[in-house]
Amino acid sequence: MLTKYGEIIKEINMRIEDGRLPPGERLPSVRAFSKEFQCSINSIIKAYAELEKEHKVYAVPKVGYFVVGSTSAHDENPFDLINFSSAGPDRSKMPYRDYQHCMNQAIELYKEEMFQYSEPLGLLTLRHRLSKQLQDLQVFAPSERIAVVSGSQQALDLLVSLPFPNGKEEICVEQPTHFSFIESISSRALKAVGIEMTDRGIDLDNLEAIFRDRSIKFFYTVSRFQNPTGYSYSNYEKKRLVELAQKYDVYIIEDDYMGDLDTRRKADPMFAYDPSGRIIYTKSFSKVLLPGLRLGAVVLPNAMVEDFTKAKFAADVHTPVLTQGALEIYLESGMYNAHIQKLRKQYNKKGSILKQAYLEHLPQGASFSGGESGFYSMITLPGRMKAEYLAQHLKKRNVLVQDATNMYLPPYRKENRIRLSVSQVEDQQIGLGVKKIGEGIQELFLRKINFI
Ligand SMILES: Cc1ncc(COP(=O)(O)O)c(C=O)c1O
Repeated sequence: MLTKYGEIIKEINMRIEDGRLPPGERLPSVRAFSKEFQCSINSIIKAYAELEKEHKVYAVPKVGYFVVGSTSAHDENPFDLINFSSAGPDRSKMPYRDYQHCMNQAIELYKEEMFQYSEPLGLLTLRHRLSKQLQDLQVFAPSERIAVVSGSQQALDLLVSLPFPNGKEEICVEQPTHFSFIESISSRALKAVGIEMTDRGIDLDNLEAIFRDRSIKFFYTVSRFQNPTGYSYSNYEKKRLVELAQKYDVYIIEDDYMGDLDTRRKADPMFAYDPSGRIIYTKSFSKVLLPGLRLGAVVLPNAMVEDFTKAKFAADVHTPVLTQGALEIYLESGMYNAHIQKLRKQYNKKGSILKQAYLEHLPQGASFSGGESGFYSMITLPGRMKAEYLAQHLKKRNVLVQDATNMYLPPYRKENRIRLSVSQVEDQQIGLGVKKIGEGIQELFLRKINFI
């Protein structure tokens, strides 16, 4: 049987759930509720305090208790919409409750420090922890070379405009690539040269010619599960790339945003082939943890730490301390590793279902790359079919895909590629979604309209 105070908690929870107490609404005053419920004021105070502990309500001193939560409820997908266009992780697999505990613990442990100004390169204790954590990915670097950033995109965005020790000017970049990196280059009108990424990787001879003939300060590469192609380099390719960088004095920015999801036991990052500083390694916590935290890390060459510190300070002084403190606890407690183990299995399964679906449903003339991680893969459309039109056509059939045209620098643009992410698509919907894509391609093909 419920105690009086248990009954009060149940009643308030019910009112929150059925909307009688919407987010932001004030709870009945302690006095009024004790009359309504015919119980002591103490029972109400105890129940409200318990709800506060559960973060369901919050107290405003001398005013009252209010329901926690945003008034703008998230729009849920209509159940028949198959969304391959989302770049975020699967919502149902986001460990935000665990992270909430870590935030609370961080406040208990570090107190005001979580709310003070802090170091531009991040909490020292977290940088030590990251130095250990990165060893699991074969990245061995001291904490002095590690910076915590507000999402790995921030590290990329700061690096594009920093001077490099080789004194060179141009950026070499896989085409297509991660859209935000394209934005970082274009918004500053930086000189960049592209190298085509296909379902078989890049042409290393071509890359060597670029390194040899041009003034390349760094090569930006997403070494596994590339966005958008899904391509992962073999160890041989990575070794060769590092050798070329050493030979022609080019730096490499290795974006290993989803390295944690790699199930190939012997797959190394490029960093492992040259830990001296020639490879700048970036890590994201967005796809495998919570993108809204905006947490990432970068391993820098010693020679660039000072310049990077100044740039980071100028950009946002430092990454919010509370999320950093919580990350440290999340890593230290082993929660992160346990979470990754689960994700690997789930995404691996999605990847297998997707590949099977591609083989079954893509029509002749269409080809695909990637898919292993369950995140990104790319379909090349037959002939000169325009991705933009296919995306519009599929939208009418309740399937969302991403036109990959803006994932290229303008001179290298291809307009017949779409990017798919299965991270937010239920396993049992993947086959149906790909079938609809296959049918959509055929419909446009037969009509012979909407071509480039
Ligand atoms: C290849 C790649 N690198 C980096 C990022 C940026 O990640 P973050 O959220 O850590 O800034 C993304 C985000 O989608 C990405 O696809």
